[in-house]
Amino acid sequence: MQNLNSEVRSAAIINGVIQLTWTLGQVSALGTYWLRDNCPCSLCRHPGNGQKLYEIVDLPRELSPREAFLAENQTLKVVWSDGHRSAYTQDWLIAHNLCEQARAARRPQVQLWRGEIAGNLPVGDWPAVVTDPVAELAWLERFSVLGFGLLKNVPTEPGTVADVGDRLGFVRVTNYGRLFDVKSVPNPTNLAYTAVGLGVHSDNPYRHPSPGVQLLHCLESEAPGGDTLLVDGFAAAEILRQEDTVAFELLTTVPMTFHYADAQTDLYAQQTLISVDHVGAVTGVHFNNRSADWLDAPAEVTEDWYAAYIQFGRILKRPELELVFRLEPGQCLVMQNDRTLHGRTAFDPNLGRRHLQGCYIDRDAMESRRTVLRRSITLPNHLSSHPALSEPARAMSVAA
Ligand code: OGA
Ligand code: ZN
Ligand code: ZN
Repeated sequence: MQNLNSEVRSAAIINGVIQLTWTLGQVSALGTYWLRDNCPCSLCRHPGNGQKLYEIVDLPRELSPREAFLAENQTLKVVWSDGHRSAYTQDWLIAHNLCEQARAARRPQVQLWRGEIAGNLPVGDWPAVVTDPVAELAWLERFSVLGFGLLKNVPTEPGTVADVGDRLGFVRVTNYGRLFDVKSVPNPTNLAYTAVGLGVHSDNPYRHPSPGVQLLHCLESEAPGGDTLLVDGFAAAEILRQEDTVAFELLTTVPMTFHYADAQTDLYAQQTLISVDHVGAVTGVHFNNRSADWLDAPAEVTEDWYAAYIQFGRILKRPELELVFRLEPGQCLVMQNDRTLHGRTAFDPNLGRRHLQGCYIDRDAMESRRTVLRRSITLPNHLSSHPALSEPARAMSVAA
């Protein structure tokens, strides 16, 4: 494994391929087309916006490095067989190191959590988050690794949730409107608009794509009951993977159908309850009892799939996974809807009012904002949830 503190010491062409030797002795071979396609010169990329100026098919069919050497500041200079010249800075070479450890360190950092996170909730003060980029970045960092965050001191004016959504990203308008009211009403179109308890779920899995981020803003919570429940869907998925790999495999490969219908709307989407990426890391959990429709799968699979579904449902109900707290007026809960599952206990609308407003935004705008803030702000260690690049990669760690 290559140590991430290593620097480039020498470059040579061996058997037609550029090899770098690093100060700690490791050697890495740089793919010819890979390196050439990353040429930063002004013929290859627009100097103003960095976008590529050629098409991939424009690269020569036969390509090899003719010369490769380290110049000043350990910049790698290459003369290619077609006469093109490229230069790659040492910083670029380090940042694009393809060794396993460096690649692992670049993966999104995820901290799994359980109910005991109650003692260390990712809370931000909304007036500070809006005005102080350091407070904003600190809150976004925790949101990003934990999959949810709380904002306090959000004005309890109705409609504010959409302003918060538009400040964190862009509100996504749906058939429920720009925002929706969560309160107990007669003839509800959705169980959310009653007083019953709701098991933990992700919202709107019947949409393509499902909302990336959900906001729930509390305006009134006098009614007894109605406590908020949150479960880290990624932590639950990892438990299932550990306890029953076959069940995990079924839930990541066999999609189920989710459905919502009212007089004007009829929405269907098929998706797996658990999604994984190309290296098997969990990237999404969608679970919603209310909108779960039928399983359209090969007959020989259905019973095993149901066993896995029930098993996952039971894991989601384990008390130690559950974060329970009371959302107070002026607090806004912001959740990655494909990770952090939410629910509530039943409440009694005859003994007091309870009124939340919610809206959806996409996840990319929040990630973008975090990346932009990181360009100019380095958080002090205690506020940063990211290990320095030189620490061993911890793509998945458990929150203390
Ligand atoms: C919802 C929902 C939870 C609550 O409206 O999507 O899950 O606390 N509400 O009322
Ligand atoms: Zn070039
Ligand atoms: Zn919900």
